[in-house]
Amino acid sequence: MPTLRPSLIAPSILACDFARLGDEVASVTAAGADWIHCDVMDGDFVPNISFGQPIVAAVSPHTTLPLDVHLMIQRPDRYIEQFLAVKGVASVTSHLEANHDAGITLDRVRTAGKKAGLSVKPGTPLDQARAFFGRFDILLIMTVEPGFGGQPFMTDMLGKIREADRLRTDLGLGFLIEVDGGINAGTARLCREAGADVMVAGTSVFKATDRAAEIRAMRA
Ligand code: DX5
Ligand code: ZN
Repeated sequence: MPTLRPSLIAPSILACDFARLGDEVASVTAAGADWIHCDVMDGDFVPNISFGQPIVAAVSPHTTLPLDVHLMIQRPDRYIEQFLAVKGVASVTSHLEANHDAGITLDRVRTAGKKAGLSVKPGTPLDQARAFFGRFDILLIMTVEPGFGGQPFMTDMLGKIREADRLRTDLGLGFLIEVDGGINAGTARLCREAGADVMVAGTSVFKATDRAAEIRAMRA
């Protein structure tokens, strides 16, 4: 059995009770989460609309944890400064498949002193991200089709996680591998064994009767 690195757990507020946003964020903070994941959707890049910068700003006073912004939007370059300006935002991830110059977007995030993330949808091979290796701090591997919470984990993404982990070692890079979609204690373990470092979890954390126990189980 290989030695496993400890994982970071990033609950996605997409699955929280938005009418009680502040309390929900405080609750997962107290339950031992490491990051707060904010899923921004524009109804164009993905077939769903979630929320924008005002909600990320509303989350900010309710936690001391880093805010991890996941932009599922076209032309993220048009909005990125808004998100970077929110107190507590530590990382901003945009999609390789979105309509933008991904290299420029990544550079802008790093210039602001934040972690720059690049995300790939399930159907996008890592080869397409090769040009950007060295320019991002987080590689977000989608383990469901982006757009909706509550979908089942795509087991065939484990190969992509292993490939990313191999590439990172071969190229001597230190980026984090983040996984997003269908993550629970069981799938988190598979992802960690495959090389993932950050587990995004919406439904499994927010719908758990004991959120702290769920987060512990996900990390165990
Ligand atoms: C999907 C989002 C995910 C989603 C995860 O487009 O990026 O962060 O909220 O939700 P669960 O954990 O419910 O699959
Ligand atoms: Zn996400």
